[in-house]
Amino acid sequence: MVKCMNNQNPKRKRKNEAVKGSVFTFFSTASAVGKTVLAVNYAADLAERGYKVCLADLDLQFGDVCNYLGITPTQTFFNYYDQEEDRRDTAAFITETQFGFDVLAAPLEVDEGFVIDAETILQAINQLRDDYDYVLLDTTTGFTNISMAILEQTDVLYLPCVVDFIPSIKDLKIGLETLHKLQFDYQRMRLILNRNKAETQISIKDVEAIVGRPFQYFISNDYQGIMQSIREAKPVVLTEAKNKLADEISDMVSEELGEKEETSSGLTGWLGSLFR
Ligand SMILES: Nc1ncnc2c1ncn2[C@@H]1O[C@H](COP(=O)(O)OP(=O)(O)O)[C@@H](O)[C@H]1O
Ligand SMILES: [Mg+2]
Repeated sequence: MVKCMNNQNPKRKRKNEAVKGSVFTFFSTASAVGKTVLAVNYAADLAERGYKVCLADLDLQFGDVCNYLGITPTQTFFNYYDQEEDRRDTAAFITETQFGFDVLAAPLEVDEGFVIDAETILQAINQLRDDYDYVLLDTTTGFTNISMAILEQTDVLYLPCVVDFIPSIKDLKIGLETLHKLQFDYQRMRLILNRNKAETQISIKDVEAIVGRPFQYFISNDYQGIMQSIREAKPVVLTEAKNKLADEISDMVSEELGEKEETSSGLTGWLGSLFR
């Protein structure tokens, strides 16, 4: 795939206007596990494939999407919230990026994020699904009434985690148990081990045994690569040079879209991987 920035592209059209867009959410029970890094790169990769994509930053108090992409929004989710309910239209509050996807930016002030309620989130997601093929949601850590609203709208839930110390494993276990209690369909969850092979004494097999689930995806630890990407405000998947982390994220997207080559079982995508 040619890695290019799509700033010269005209406004994207949806690939399929007849169906509502899919909602992919990046959520975690511990902080700083890579939700935003993965969401930004996932959005860039989907946009490279020609889809119309919006990344909504629903980390309402401490959103990082605009920082990671080097964009300065003039409109944010707070401005959307601040309208009369029947006059809210997400299209008026979107920030376009040079990476081929749009962003619904998090509020700029903590107190602005604080007042936004779950109903407004539901309204916004619903509108975004009409306008985009894929609506990616970056979130904040933990279960709140806002995350409940987000989960309710989520088609595929990405759960990145970093198994660097015992409390993060405990939090992951509690998170998975809570999702189970909420009856969130396991088939729609993707457990990601981020920063794989970072300096840690904890074995993956032990973690999988403790939490009772295998990891579906393994994303390399590449501190320099990520830091450079944040400094340059450019997603890693758009870098010209060969990059393992970028390939792993692209593979994850391919897997989700079922674009991997057919296996001997004849099944593609993540469901297929269960039977390999
Ligand atoms: N795969 C990775 N390799 C190396 N560093 C990473 C990786 N993923 C995330 N990081 C580091 O962790 C930090 C937190 O990531 P971020 O996506 O902001 O976490 P979250 O959104 O879950 O709070 C990043 O700024 C980066 O320094
Ligand atoms: Mg974040």
